Amino acid sequence: MNRALPAVRLRVPTHEDAVVWHRIFDDPDVMEFHGGASAELSVYEELTARQRRHDAQLGFCLWSMLDESGRVIGFTGAQPWENDWGPTGEIEIGWRLAREHWGKGYVTAAAVETLERVRATGLKGVVAMVDAGNSRSIAVTRRLGMRLAETFTAPVSRREGHCYRLDL
Ligand SMILES: CC(C)(COP(=O)(O)OP(=O)(O)OC[C@H]1O[C@@H](n2cnc3c(N)ncnc32)[C@H](O)[C@@H]1OP(=O)(O)O)[C@@H](O)C(=O)NCCC(=O)NCCS
Repeated sequence: MNRALPAVRLRVPTHEDAVVWHRIFDDPDVMEFHGGASAELSVYEELTARQRRHDAQLGFCLWSMLDESGRVIGFTGAQPWENDWGPTGEIEIGWRLAREHWGKGYVTAAAVETLERVRATGLKGVVAMVDAGNSRSIAVTRRLGMRLAETFTAPVSRREGHCYRLDL
């Protein structure tokens, strides 16, 4: 990929960002691999509050992504994998982007910045847990140079998933 990546800014999500995330992710395409249905505002309030704690404790989190005009268009970043299955205790990178901004390289740009930031904290590696059918997300892992390390069956959905890894 030799096209220039778009400019994107990452910052810790504010309480107000929960409202924006709730609005821009209220879309069946965005939620296809997250249970299909839109999440309640309270889910995003809890998610953004958790990211502020991660930032304070770890120096990284799932950051709000802002485009060139300063609009919040999604999130990208890193957080601990907190489930009791899968890579428990490891750091996962993840992303979610409003549908109207797909296809422009925003998440690849934000993920490259994420890797630089987490590397600077001394972290030695990250994982990405992706539904096997989520080809756009798998394409992001490829652009980052991640390797498919394991496949798994997600406990609740019983869907096949891929665990990608990257040494930093
Ligand atoms: C997964 C998701 C973030 C991918 O979004 P995306 O826009 O395809 O990814 P990027 O921002 O990296 O952009 C890549 C696209 O921009 C294009 N692009 C343009 N300029 C580019 C550049 N300089 N570098 C890379 N890609 C560029 C690519 O060709 C690609 O588009 P294409 O697939 O139509 O060819 C998005 O589909 C999404 O939010 N899905 C719902 C939530 C989700 O599933 N999250 C992941 C859970 S694991």
